Amino acid sequence: MVGAEADNSNLEWSLPVPSVQELAKQQPDTVPSRYIVDDMDCSITTVDTDSSDDHHVPLIDMTKLVNPDSHNEELQKLHSAFKHWGLFQLINHGVPDEIIRNMKEEIQNFFDLPLQEKKRSAQKPGSLEGYGQAFVTSEDQKLPWNDMIFLKALPVQNKNVSIWPQKPPKFRETLENYSEEMRKIAVTLARFMAMGLEIEAEEICKAYQGGRYEVRMNLYPPCPEPERVIGISPHADNSGITLLLECGNTPGLQFLKDGRWVTVVPIDDAIVVNIGQISEIMSNGIYKAPDHRAVVNRLKDRMSIVMFCYPDSSINVGPAKELISSGNPPLYKTLTHAEYLHTFTKRSLDIPFIDLLKI
Ligand code: OGA
Ligand code: NI
Repeated sequence: MVGAEADNSNLEWSLPVPSVQELAKQQPDTVPSRYIVDDMDCSITTVDTDSSDDHHVPLIDMTKLVNPDSHNEELQKLHSAFKHWGLFQLINHGVPDEIIRNMKEEIQNFFDLPLQEKKRSAQKPGSLEGYGQAFVTSEDQKLPWNDMIFLKALPVQNKNVSIWPQKPPKFRETLENYSEEMRKIAVTLARFMAMGLEIEAEEICKAYQGGRYEVRMNLYPPCPEPERVIGISPHADNSGITLLLECGNTPGLQFLKDGRWVTVVPIDDAIVVNIGQISEIMSNGIYKAPDHRAVVNRLKDRMSIVMFCYPDSSINVGPAKELISSGNPPLYKTLTHAEYLHTFTKRSLDIPFIDLLKI
């Protein structure tokens, strides 16, 4: 089923690829051609080179959001961040330090295991879950400078325990605890998102409470020619909300803002929040799911833990009814959750997915 002749119109699985970590261990002077992308757009903005406010990723403080004295102002900031950027860095989010620390340690320990051990969690033909790569559908496709493990975390009945790593020994328990914390944050952010959009919050919060949580843990090894490869190609997430934790202070994540790539400068233990296409659709385009990518570093590796949060699949994916009126027609189709995911996995990689959903 999975092979060079496989049906490349299906993105529910990915071809097996070599480990970039193993490749990098050999300390090559140059990068194999399969990783070289020649059309890298280098119009990179960082706060070091451009310190105007327009190019600072917004910062949201959870304690200010929940404090009645500062709530209104911070909510306005959150709404504006989602509207103009589709993202922000979230500080004081209330996730216990220990849970964050343990999760970072366990993913480091996982990637430090011998390849053979990691391969016990390797993706199986026909599935994206496990250790491997995503969206590789042909043998001549360019490859990202990235190794990853992708796991379904919540609801618990979605967990595919046979794929969850048994080593390091505390990995499973740590990821379970971490996922519960991410669920709490997603539910809270869904409430503030609804408040920002002035739509009914209860149903949305319930949908995130019972929603799907899937984690992609990324390793970007050091690369001898970082300007010629890409860690993750530009994309927007198909989630509702994405919560990304940086495991160190090496930057790599970039968002497209007004046609320029803006680097996210890691802040210790902050969570990078970005919306995915489900929220873009729900907001009828008031919020936009931002395009983003990861670049890599010559000397240092980088790891990220990315939780994709989806509302409960019994909820349709479509514009919120309060945002639709004769003057504000729906800009996106309403699909069942299953239809939405089907459209995503059957899409061609050449067309922006969101375009398939526009009216
Ligand atoms: C992703 C993603 C970026 C990063 O996994 O969808 O955008 O910096 N990751 O790891
Ligand atoms: Ni992403």
